Amino acid sequence: MLYANSVFKDESKLDINYVPKALPHREKEYRLLMEFFNFLFQFSEKMSQRVIITGDVGTGKTALSNRFGADITLQANKKKIKLKYIHVNCREYRGKISLILQHILTIFQANFPKRGYSSEEVLDMLFQILDEEATHIILALDEFDTLIKNEGSETVYKLTRLQEMRSNKPQRISLLFILRDLALINDLDESSKSTLQRNIVNLKKYDINQLVDILNERVDMSFNLYAVNDDVINSIAEFGYSESGNARFAIDLLWRAGKYADANNKRVVGMECLREAVSSIFPSIRKSEIDSLTLHEKLFLLAIARFFNYNDVACASISEIEESYEIVCEEYSEKPNSHTQIWKYVQLLSALGIIKIKVRSASKRGRSTFISLPTIPSNELEKELNASLRKKVSEKHEI
Ligand SMILES: Nc1ncnc2c1ncn2[C@@H]1O[C@H](COP(=O)(O)OP(=O)(O)OP(=O)(O)O)[C@@H](O)[C@H]1O
Ligand SMILES: [Mg+2]
Repeated sequence: MLYANSVFKDESKLDINYVPKALPHREKEYRLLMEFFNFLFQFSEKMSQRVIITGDVGTGKTALSNRFGADITLQANKKKIKLKYIHVNCREYRGKISLILQHILTIFQANFPKRGYSSEEVLDMLFQILDEEATHIILALDEFDTLIKNEGSETVYKLTRLQEMRSNKPQRISLLFILRDLALINDLDESSKSTLQRNIVNLKKYDINQLVDILNERVDMSFNLYAVNDDVINSIAEFGYSESGNARFAIDLLWRAGKYADANNKRVVGMECLREAVSSIFPSIRKSEIDSLTLHEKLFLLAIARFFNYNDVACASISEIEESYEIVCEEYSEKPNSHTQIWKYVQLLSALGIIKIKVRSASKRGRSTFISLPTIPSNELEKELNASLRKKVSEKHEI
């Protein structure tokens, strides 16, 4: 790509999916991971491993796991050890183990039918393929929080016992569980808990200086020489730090500031560009999260956003949101879904971390459920949903 009159020399290095060759300030954690999986180089069929990577949003869990996965695969393959690293984001599969297993199988067998097999059968087929190919896989289950919330204890238990269930056979699957909220492990059964708590790689929040280092490295890769002022880098690091040490937030802000510099025909990214970037940013929700919702999940979330936009209260009861949902449905000429379905939307949005559920005792009628929207400005959410819904409607018309 040509970058005439741009502050960028290679924007792709700021892309969320880009995995840098080395991760500054995660060297210790990287070595620990390598240590946990060292057995693969000696007796990959006799052992398997289960490791947790945990840390707050944007602390480098996904990046570290991907870096480690790519490096260990390369090292193993050089030594003629058959190893494959598979990274699956559980949220993309709605935390459903059946969909996740199906997806993994299609990596080995592209035309595997999507329906008609139970999770157990799919798993058996996967083991069969791995046996035939004499391959070990490291399966990274990213955003595992969603799976725990959706599937509960029993599935997690089965996952931690995958190998024991096929005693005396070669070990084929190691697991890397990636999750933000380690407390979720506490609610599991004792056995899963003790297995999972053995190997934990904990990523602490980045401090300002660490974020400056991370940003400087990205600036060198992606911007022209002297195109970003030091003041800007330091301020971005401060923003990242106040957003709970979130490197993603910082890198995204850096990219946006660069975009504003280009849009204003500036040769240097200065503070004014950063201010423009800050005012445009929408940090608490990922657009991809909204886009991946179904039509009625969006309508229901829009009902929540509307409610909090018009009512200056912390919580809403389900029936209040249901009323708002009916009005939204009318507006979009859609038939509102049943109470049971609504309950599923509430569970899903809570599992995605968009809303929070609280169960409280409400007067004489016993306990009832309340919904809150703790981190996302309802105004912004409403705008975002309207845009996404408009897109859907116009797509419908185009077809
Ligand atoms: N130490 C680091 N060096 C360079 N880049 C980093 C480092 N840590 C994180 N990043 C970058 O910051 C961004 C966010 O990191 P990542 O996606 O791994 O966070 P995460 O912990 O998985 O967040 P989430 O909980 O939201 O999934 C990515 O672009 C990643 O490449
Ligand atoms: Mg991640």
